[in-house]
Amino acid sequence: MSRESMIACALLAACCAALPLHAADESDIRLAPGAGLVETQSSCAICHSLDYIVMNSPFLDAAGWQKVVTKMITVMGAPITPDNAAIIARYLATNYGRDPAPSATTPP
Ligand code: HEC
Repeated sequence: MSRESMIACALLAACCAALPLHAADESDIRLAPGAGLVETQSSCAICHSLDYIVMNSPFLDAAGWQKVVTKMITVMGAPITPDNAAIIARYLATNYGRDPAPSATTPP
């Protein structure tokens, strides 16, 4: 094996080894700072990516987020206390809520 191909192999191996680690790095997702951030991060990242919050922000208003939090607890079995559920729902509605006035989001 030539010296060049040895180096190419080593580089490839290093890259491949680094990739899955990076893909699994949840810390890449940063939620908006605000009251309830800590509760949301610690309660909602147990089962899936916090991406779910960001991805659903265009569709959910305060009532919608309340439903999601309730569903995660009752259907999915999320271990969240009622106090924290209220804090999280408020955080999500404030930072990731769709505009509450439907007329404001409809184009003229
Ligand atoms: C006990 C595990 C668990 C916890 C904790 C959890 N979820 Fe989920 N969540 C799920 C599962 C399972 C799904 C649906 C399956 C999938 O698509 O991965 C889901 C789906 C979602 C979805 C996609 C829309 C939907 O209704 O299916 C959103 C948004 C969401 N979760 C938000 C949250 C938020 C916000 C929290 C924190 C309050 C949370 N999840 C905590 C298990 C959990």
